[in-house]
Amino acid sequence: MAVRPDDVWVTGFPRSGTTFTQELVWQVANECDFDTASKIPLMTRYMFLEGVMTVNFIQSRQKEVVTEPIYTHTAVHAAPSPRFIKTHAPFSLLPANLLDTTKVVYIARDPRDVAISNYQFVKKLRHYSGDLKSYCNLFFNDLALFSPLLPHVKEAWELRHHPNMMFIFYEDMLKDVPLYIKRLADFLDKKLTDEQIVKLSEHLSFENFKNNKSVNPTWIAKSGNPDAEGFIRKGKSGAWREQFDEEMAAQAQRWMRENLAGSDLRFPDYTS
Ligand code: A3P
Repeated sequence: MAVRPDDVWVTGFPRSGTTFTQELVWQVANECDFDTASKIPLMTRYMFLEGVMTVNFIQSRQKEVVTEPIYTHTAVHAAPSPRFIKTHAPFSLLPANLLDTTKVVYIARDPRDVAISNYQFVKKLRHYSGDLKSYCNLFFNDLALFSPLLPHVKEAWELRHHPNMMFIFYEDMLKDVPLYIKRLADFLDKKLTDEQIVKLSEHLSFENFKNNKSVNPTWIAKSGNPDAEGFIRKGKSGAWREQFDEEMAAQAQRWMRENLAGSDLRFPDYTS
C-alpha cells in the first residue's frame, strides 16, 4: 500500500498495549483534543489494517455485530490525510518503505503478560474454552493468533534507532506516562503545555481508560462473554508471576531464552 509522509502508524503484537498507545499518539498528534476524541471512537479515528480479516474471522465464529467501521484497503487508500493507522502485523509484512516515509510507534510488552492478556481476550470472544495453562502451551509454541511474538518484537527492536521509529516498552511507559508524552511530543514535533501533559496523563490513567466509551469497542462489551474480563482489563505488569505455575514459568523462560539467543533485546523484567 502507498505510505504517506504524514501518516502515523501504531504497531505491536496484540494485547501489548496498542489501544493505550493509539490514544496517546492520537492525543499528542492532535494537541489534546479531548472533545473530538470523546465523540469519535478510537476505532474510527484509526484504520486497523487487518480489521477486515480479523472481524470476518470473528463473525464467522459467532454472531457479533461489529458496530465500529471496518476499513477496507480501498477505504484506507481513499482516506484523507493525516491517516492514523493501526496494525498488528510485523515489520516484515509492512511496506518496505514505511519507516523511510513516515513515523511509526511500536509497543512491546513482556510476552508472559501478553500471553495472559490474549488468553483473557480469546475467552471474551468465546474463541477458547480451555484453561490458561493449555492456552500458554499453544502461545509458547508459537501457535496463537499473530504468533510468533518474539520475531515480531525483534524485527522492531532492530529498527529502534531509525529516526522515524519510536520503540516503547509498555512496562517503562506505565512507570512514567508524562515522560513518554513528552518524548512522543518531541518525536511528532508537537509542543504541549505542562497543563496538557497533566490532563493527558489523567485521561490515560487505567481507571479513566476503562470507563472511556470511546476507546472500548462497543461490540465486545455488548456481545463478548460476560463471564470473561473486559477489553481494558487489568493494566498491570508482572501478573504472570502470580498466575503461572512453575512448569509454565519454566516453559516461558525456555522459549524466551531460545528465541532471544543472539539478540540484545531484553524486556524490562526479564532475566535470562
Ligand atoms: P491486560 O489484559 O493485562 O489488562 P491491546 O490494546 O494491545 O489489546 O492491549 C491490551 C492491554 O493493555 C490490556 O492488558 C489492557 O488492560 C492494557 N491497557 C489498556 N489501557 C490501559 C491503560 N490505560 N493503562 C494500562 N494498561 C492498559
